[in-house]
Amino acid sequence: MSGEFQADRPSTHGDQQYHLHLSQGDLSPTVLLPGDPARVPVLAREWDEATAVAENREYRSMRGVFHGTPISACSTGIGGPSTEIAVNELAAVGCDSFIRLGTTGGLQEHTRCGDIIISTASIRWDGAGVSYAPDAYPAAASYEVILALIEACERLALTYHLGVSATVASFYAAQSRPSYGGYNGRDATRVDELRAMGVMNLEMETATILTLCSLFGLRGGAACVVIADRYRNEWRPEGADEVLAMLGAEAAFTLTAHDTLKRRAGKRWYFPALHAPVAQT
Ligand code: URA
Repeated sequence: MSGEFQADRPSTHGDQQYHLHLSQGDLSPTVLLPGDPARVPVLAREWDEATAVAENREYRSMRGVFHGTPISACSTGIGGPSTEIAVNELAAVGCDSFIRLGTTGGLQEHTRCGDIIISTASIRWDGAGVSYAPDAYPAAASYEVILALIEACERLALTYHLGVSATVASFYAAQSRPSYGGYNGRDATRVDELRAMGVMNLEMETATILTLCSLFGLRGGAACVVIADRYRNEWRPEGADEVLAMLGAEAAFTLTAHDTLKRRAGKRWYFPALHAPVAQT
């Protein structure tokens, strides 16, 4: 059966991915992943050059250049199922480094609205990842993406925190919010339990990205702006887009710069001493 007609490898118009409408090489290897398609052009405003590439359903993609570095963005939609499609199809067209940029609910007393949380790992309650690996398999971020995000936050003088996130498959009940009519669902105490475990934040896409990237041998990471302070019960979404745009551009640029250092040194992995080797004593 020719590739175009195989049910287990759906595509449209020849080699285009069925959902994302992208072909091999359409985007740069490093791709920023907001959830919201409306956020893609907002991220791209930060770049020096930007071109719209494709748009279908919840998936909008753009590519461009930031400080001489190729950069791209593609929305994932909300939650594990649409994110699973995005990561698969982006990997299929040559993307190898994935940086989620989202919004989140902060759980700890020391995290405030406007702060950034960089995930070192995420609890896998995303729903989609369960079909890929047993629950015991960790959703861990690439340390190289974590380092790029830290460096970007430092350069931009953002307040940021590192730690374990929790990815869930619902915005209301799974995040201990009353749903319609005050119905409380089965996870009403989850926020308190996660806070006691030191978990930093609740959101809906990170674990899917990290799990799939680890399994596929790709790099995944995530940084989210706190718009819901679940400790003080505050909701402040304003300004999140602009912060994510600056952070995404800086992080992609930094990751690529670190890759260049590795290549020049003939190293497989990035480490900070590549900038200035430590003298032997
Ligand atoms: N996204 C979430 O999933 N939860 C929040 O509280 C805020 C953003």
